[in-house]
Amino acid sequence: MADTPGTGAARIRICASSELAERGLGVRFAVDVAGREQQAFVVRFHGHVHAYLNSCAHIPIELDYQPGDFFDLSQNYLVCATHGAYYAPQTGLCLGGPCPGRHLTKLTVVEEDDQVFYCPARNG
Ligand code: FES
Repeated sequence: MADTPGTGAARIRICASSELAERGLGVRFAVDVAGREQQAFVVRFHGHVHAYLNSCAHIPIELDYQPGDFFDLSQNYLVCATHGAYYAPQTGLCLGGPCPGRHLTKLTVVEEDDQVFYCPARNG
């Protein structure tokens, strides 16, 4: 990852748009949360990019057992490989499993010029 020239730390490049297939493998990236590095991921769903901290709302461990494999078999939900919590890809709301009603932590990402960027300033 690198800062986008001319934008300072306003946004950080994650990957090329072409790396995110619809309901395909996600791309993992690291973010700084209050001075501590945490893992995150971005996926594409219904044409839009959505990013979250890679930390299950049930127990704070990473969702993907195989790196980047965040969708369930139906490819309609994000799923935690550990106990099977499944989440709405657009909102991160847990819809079933051990923690219904909780949320993944959503991160702000934008897609421009065939690139996907993380926007840390918009994530408090
Ligand atoms: S740790 Fe994710 S469902 Fe239990």
